[in-house]
Amino acid sequence: MENYQRRLKEFYTYLQAKTERMIGYPSNQVYDYSELYDFFKLSINNLGDPLSNGPFKVKAHEFEKEVIEFVAEITGVADNNFWGYVTNGGTEGNMYGLYVAREMYPDSIVYYSEEAHYSIPKVLKLLKMPSIAISTNSNGEMDLKDLKNVLQVNRTKVPIFMATIGTTMKGAVDSVKGIQNCVRELAFPNHYIHCDSALSGMILPFCETAPGFGIIDGVHSFSISGHKMFGSPMPCGVVVAKKDYVDRIGSSIEYIGALDTTLSGSRNGHTPLLLWYAIKKHGFEGYKTTVQGCLAVADHIIDELAKHDIKAWRNKFSVTVIIPRPSQHIIDKWQIAIQNDIAHIVSMPHVTKEQIDLFIIDYVKDMT
Ligand SMILES: Cc1ncc(COP(=O)(O)O)c(C=O)c1O
Repeated sequence: MENYQRRLKEFYTYLQAKTERMIGYPSNQVYDYSELYDFFKLSINNLGDPLSNGPFKVKAHEFEKEVIEFVAEITGVADNNFWGYVTNGGTEGNMYGLYVAREMYPDSIVYYSEEAHYSIPKVLKLLKMPSIAISTNSNGEMDLKDLKNVLQVNRTKVPIFMATIGTTMKGAVDSVKGIQNCVRELAFPNHYIHCDSALSGMILPFCETAPGFGIIDGVHSFSISGHKMFGSPMPCGVVVAKKDYVDRIGSSIEYIGALDTTLSGSRNGHTPLLLWYAIKKHGFEGYKTTVQGCLAVADHIIDELAKHDIKAWRNKFSVTVIIPRPSQHIIDKWQIAIQNDIAHIVSMPHVTKEQIDLFIIDYVKDMT
């Protein structure tokens, strides 16, 4: 075996071992894309708007379009007024949503919760958008009383809301309806809501009584990560926005024969194919079964820890279980995400009850 081959083999073994004990981060490890292997012998570039039809043909726009249609369908659309594309991940989707919002309403303020993803303040800085962070309730949800108080003293600016649908640390879902009530009660003539649905965007549609966050619910754009509940070996995501809003910001570029509506020029052509394949393999019912299985494992964690008098909890419709922070040894061994005195386990499809039982033996020993 050559040196480089040994190096690759060692790296593969290392990654495999680390993947087996990855219970603290929300990347779904259950998929098999081997049927798509041949496509990795080809360069695919999803240059430009997925709906465009320019001279460049080595692209997977038709698959990308179907991915967007699936996401629009499961989240709800009104009058076919939607458009979207496959992004590099949730962060790009949030940036896109805020970009559309800023182009629509330059004289505005963005409201986001203190527990929003760390990318939000960064994106706001990049886009130079004035913003105010709103406090959260103990379960991690945006505090609507605080929101209303803050809105009341900023009535001359159009409010743009960044609602989190499944916060990073606690899996909390900000209330879109609650935000809309504030807008109505304070009689704002215009507003914009983007939902950062990185993880729970592929959970809520499969839970019967879950609140909506789609275009049909009055949201103007939302984004979902592809490497989370969708399942993809490489980071990607989906952003969906109201078509009539996007139409106002795209410009036609002759060189690519397409509208330049997306943030990146050259775009990954393989990830839309992966997401499309995942959708064909799972379908709505397949994802529903997967999500229900994840919620059952999340409840198993809570029940098992309760037997040891350790309080673990989760938000409704969330696979994120919050636990007291363990020692560094446990954090490293099980790749647990932490924040101050709390930690969490994210019960993704690859996290099994058997794995959890092994974790609990370690964790209980550590905590008692
Ligand atoms: C709520 C939330 N938003 C956005 C992101 C960023 O997504 P990505 O890593 O796909 O850019 C994450 C990632 O964990 C997240 O939890």
